Amino acid sequence: MQKTQVERLFSGLIGMEYDLLKLICPAVVEISQKVGETLALWNPGKPPDVFEIGCGTGITSLSLLHARKDASITAVDNEPTMLGQARQHLALWLEQGRLRLVETDALSGLRALPDTSVDVVASGYVTHNFLQAYREQVFKEIYRVLKPGGIFINGDRYALDDTIAHTRLIQDEVRYWFKTFAEIGRHDLLEQWIVHLFSDESADHIMRLQPSLAYLKQIGFDPVEVRFQEGINTLLVAEKPRLGE
Ligand SMILES: C[S@@+](CC[C@H](N)C(=O)[O-])C[C@H]1O[C@@H](n2cnc3c(N)ncnc32)[C@H](O)[C@@H]1O
Repeated sequence: MQKTQVERLFSGLIGMEYDLLKLICPAVVEISQKVGETLALWNPGKPPDVFEIGCGTGITSLSLLHARKDASITAVDNEPTMLGQARQHLALWLEQGRLRLVETDALSGLRALPDTSVDVVASGYVTHNFLQAYREQVFKEIYRVLKPGGIFINGDRYALDDTIAHTRLIQDEVRYWFKTFAEIGRHDLLEQWIVHLFSDESADHIMRLQPSLAYLKQIGFDPVEVRFQEGINTLLVAEKPRLGE
């Protein structure tokens, strides 16, 4: 039976020193910017209601907030260490009332929303962390809560369908992590990120590109588009069809 439980992979050192992720994975910032740029182009003139999954310390949230001054954003994360940092980084927008941060897991947060109540669901580097069965439920819920014409913007690590090429990329990534963490003398963090990577790459978690696109189509999204891909770092946009389409 597939496991659907919620996991907490960002407690401890990884969460406390999350900013160092930018050193080993600069694509997080680049792809988060692209998530914002995609929101910027969505339905100009319609102030978007955005639901963000796994806001972490607020890198993707910041990009969304800058992209659309008319957006109101509810962002959820189930890790208090990460949310605490987001509260500090995003204090200005919290005060302005444009942003709401909620401590809950993605599935529970989505389940609390009515049908067709959200314009955009956005996320950066979150869904690859999920157990496969949990992820499928999250995607179904995203479809349910989106309004027709609404979009799901997901910037994330999508494993290459060519498994040999994928393994090579991950091996290169691990080599780079050893070099980078050695330079700053952080073997403790290196250990934590390697352990984390084992989880991401495990059979229960790994998020491969083509099966992910096929699953989103199967639950009704159309079109489902890869807007950017560099190695595993991918920007995917899936639209809930408008009524009558
Ligand atoms: C790699 S971080 C990305 C954070 C942020 N989007 C960014 O760009 O920095 C992944 C975040 O997802 C959160 N997360 C993981 N599983 C979650 C779940 N089931 N529900 C809500 N948040 C989750 C983690 O706590 C973490 O803050």
